[in-house]
Amino acid sequence: MDFQKNKEKILIIDFGSQLTKLIARRIRDIGVYSEVLTPKQISKLEYFDQIKGIILSGGPSTVTKKKYESIPKKIFDQKIPILGICYGLQLISKIFGGKIKSSNKRREFGRAFLINKKPSLLTKNFFNTKQSVWMSHEDAVYKLPKNFKIIASTKNSKLTIIENTKEKIYGVQFHPEVTHTDNGKKILANFVFLICKIKKKWNISSQKKFLIKEIKKIVKKEKVICALSGGVDSSVVALLIHKAIRKNLICIMVDTGLMRKNEFKFTYKKFKKKYNLNVKLINASQLFLKKLKNISDPEKKRKIIGNLFIKIFEKEAKKINNVKFLAQGTLYPDIIESRSSTGSKTSKIKSHHNVGGLPKKMNLKLLEPLKEFFKDEVRILGKTLGLSKDINFKHPFPGPGLAIRIIGKITKEKVKILQEADNIFINELVNNNLYDKIWQAYAALLPFKTVGVMGDSRTYEYTCMLRAVTSEDGMTADYFNFEKYFLDKVSSKIVNNVKGINRVVFDITSKPPSTIELE
Ligand code: XMP
Repeated sequence: MDFQKNKEKILIIDFGSQLTKLIARRIRDIGVYSEVLTPKQISKLEYFDQIKGIILSGGPSTVTKKKYESIPKKIFDQKIPILGICYGLQLISKIFGGKIKSSNKRREFGRAFLINKKPSLLTKNFFNTKQSVWMSHEDAVYKLPKNFKIIASTKNSKLTIIENTKEKIYGVQFHPEVTHTDNGKKILANFVFLICKIKKKWNISSQKKFLIKEIKKIVKKEKVICALSGGVDSSVVALLIHKAIRKNLICIMVDTGLMRKNEFKFTYKKFKKKYNLNVKLINASQLFLKKLKNISDPEKKRKIIGNLFIKIFEKEAKKINNVKFLAQGTLYPDIIESRSSTGSKTSKIKSHHNVGGLPKKMNLKLLEPLKEFFKDEVRILGKTLGLSKDINFKHPFPGPGLAIRIIGKITKEKVKILQEADNIFINELVNNNLYDKIWQAYAALLPFKTVGVMGDSRTYEYTCMLRAVTSEDGMTADYFNFEKYFLDKVSSKIVNNVKGINRVVFDITSKPPSTIELE
């Protein structure tokens, strides 16, 4: 299902930079639809009608070697404006006869200052008195390609912004997409509006009607099932599809018993009563506890939960006749990552659990209406669909739930203790207006008991660990620096109200070297 087939767009060719997604987001932020393709995909492209501009991303490849990532020459024959960023600039230079080398003298990492050499459409209203830009390159262009002109330099590299106005080809050595580049958005906006001359049309709220129409067209009178977890993505998917096909969407909520206190039943009621969805709640908490008995190994826990979830979902789905589609909350970053241009898979740190893998066994067609959207766009969509703020702005929560926040063996008693402590922490965050400033926060139960004293008695109970992090996308994170009074308050509330905990600690590691979750 390609929802945006006939849309005017800026195409971004991904040479493997961590920042490619950010370029796509920035372009959408300024009101223009953008898509990311790999060099391989672009070489198969036959129609360029809707493509109004092309951006070549940065990447780990180097044109100084014999073999390097490239794109077919035909791309340059389309007369579509092109902007190369970092590796993109080096590739353009190589293709048009410039010279590039890797040198200690020319490499730049971090902040650099631009020297303006010549006016250009690309840099209109961009320069300020001390224009700083963010660099990350070892290779540098030292001989200008034919028919190109220098627009700006830095102390280390002469060819920092170059242009060929006749061919509408531009290159910047720095990264305009990062916030460390002052005014970087202006470069992207100038390229998109002044050079590509594309109109500002992309607006996520206006996508709602379009998506509903497309879903109706695809699904017709068939039935769709959806695993609803109450997280943002599956909730938005369910509301969207429900708007299109009403009762032909059947949602299944599998309660693993490993969710936050009361959250699952609360979400179920909301979807059933407030949003009027056709939703079935399966209480499988006993079964999950039974299967997890005596299991301490994190990977085993994850596998057991993932497999059991799929088994239960499948069993329930089979009870419904004539289902043709499975709806999933796949997002655009998942799509970009699964077809990384370098093909290199980052080493597996943890096996994540989601409902992927279901359709193969069940012979269902996938319906993924969010697969062209970023998380913040999904939240805007959620708002226009009337999704309540508590769900729409909920922190991410891992599929295996509290099982990976109870270190060591899981028991019913431990789940209950943790739910109570976690509930106190989260409520305090909300009441102190801190919840929305934090990417993710939770309480965990550590696998040992320590001695304490309460009143005149000795206690011997569990330790609760609090974690709260800020992050952009969960890939890197820093711990949230609470004021002392807040931690004091949460700590004493937990110890005073949760039987089974006599000590509270706060995790102050960032990711890396730690991860956000403990297991
Ligand atoms: P880590 O612990 O790897 O977590 O730093 C990064 C982000 O991923 C979430 N996470 C998961 N999400 N299924 C999920 O859907 C999982 O199995 C899973 N494990 C971790 C984690 O909560 C954080 O937001």
